[in-house]
Amino acid sequence: MNEFDSERISAILEWLGYLKTDSQEDAGLIILNTCSVRLKAETRLFGHIGNLKVLKEQNPGLIICIGGCTAQSLKEKLIETFPFIDIVFGTGNIENLPGLIKARAATAKSICDTSGNPQEIKELIDFKRKFSFKAFIPVMTGCDNYCSYCIVPYVRGHEKSINPAVIIDSVKKLAAEGVFEVTLLGQNVNSYGHVLNCGGDAATAAGESINSFAKLLNKVAVINGIKRIRFMTSHPKDFTEDIIDAVRDNNNIMGHIHLPFQSGSDKILELMNRKYSARQYEDLFYKIKERIPDCAITTDIIVGFPGEKEKDFNKTLELVKKLKFNRAFTFLYSSRRGTKAETFEDSVPIAEKKKWFKLLLDTQNTISFDRNMMMKGKVFKALVESESTKKSSLLEGRLENNTIVNFDGPKELTGKFINLEITQAHPFYLSGKIV
Ligand code: 5AD
Ligand code: SF4
Repeated sequence: MNEFDSERISAILEWLGYLKTDSQEDAGLIILNTCSVRLKAETRLFGHIGNLKVLKEQNPGLIICIGGCTAQSLKEKLIETFPFIDIVFGTGNIENLPGLIKARAATAKSICDTSGNPQEIKELIDFKRKFSFKAFIPVMTGCDNYCSYCIVPYVRGHEKSINPAVIIDSVKKLAAEGVFEVTLLGQNVNSYGHVLNCGGDAATAAGESINSFAKLLNKVAVINGIKRIRFMTSHPKDFTEDIIDAVRDNNNIMGHIHLPFQSGSDKILELMNRKYSARQYEDLFYKIKERIPDCAITTDIIVGFPGEKEKDFNKTLELVKKLKFNRAFTFLYSSRRGTKAETFEDSVPIAEKKKWFKLLLDTQNTISFDRNMMMKGKVFKALVESESTKKSSLLEGRLENNTIVNFDGPKELTGKFINLEITQAHPFYLSGKIV
């Protein structure tokens, strides 16, 4: 969602006449789009802001803006701590940026606008994209789940699904412009249709009721020109069977599901307010695999939640060994202000948590590597997306199951489908050659 917001922010700046620069020293305006999900991101942000102070001293005309979740959460406090910040804007105020930049030029005071008006959906979807062939499409914003560790409901607001007619029209329009891959975005896409009050009041598109994520997926899948559909993120408690069927029955919906499980211990899942048991998660996992055997499943896991004991952690580790995820994003629990878990007792020393974390990471890395090794020598269809982030002389292709493959080839292949033979496996990506 942050990446999507950054794309929108860039488009607004371009529209205002700004040009991109790779050098901070050359910039007349710098925007930091922030994340507050874990403390580490915030700590790093403060370091970045500190560095900008020197730039501002050298160039007093420089405009420094802080947006995103941390801005939404800390509001004026950011300006109190760093008075050289010009503008703080919230997650629901991105469209106000032109007005805020203008207003800042007309006043000697810094501005903070985190009033978070519901986002105008037309503007959410209708803007110049970073890529010509793929696009993020938000289908819902905010979250009402209140997982006890999570700051998102406090910085992204209540759950709101976007009118299906708006989504479908936007995908059609993008397809007509040459976009053939869309990623449907939301904090919890599976609850699509539960709260339909954003961008219109009718849960209908072309006279048809589209009040669930499965129905939306089926509708998007038949839009002419759309060759790849992805979606994230899914909450296990709302992952209905018709979503599995939609993925199975539509060739252009990619076989990759990101399904965070967070913990393998029922005691911890309850404390986290996740509303499913480890057994229910496992059942869902196998149901997906049964109907779509090739489906890649990735997950998120939190280690060291308050109250987690070694036996709870071992249940997480066992589940990871048993389910063998394609990839798992593992996080050390980070206490976030305003969340319920912030008040929970936490007696496990951080050194112990780090030991568990390393064990989990090593275990999953081996699993991911072994899975990737099994792909060696085989040929897969890939969409060439960009230059490689690992080595600029290489290109990066994405397989249907979301794995990245680095390979040598001409830049002109960008945006094209090719066949790649996998020549080497790594835990998080593959190397390949054009067939
Ligand atoms: N501490 C650690 N990890 C967190 N996540 C969310 N909040 C926290 C937190 N307070 C993780 C969850 C979520 C992912 C996006 O970030 O695993 O799925
Ligand atoms: Fe946070 Fe839970 Fe909502 Fe995901 S579902 S954004 S973890 S509160």
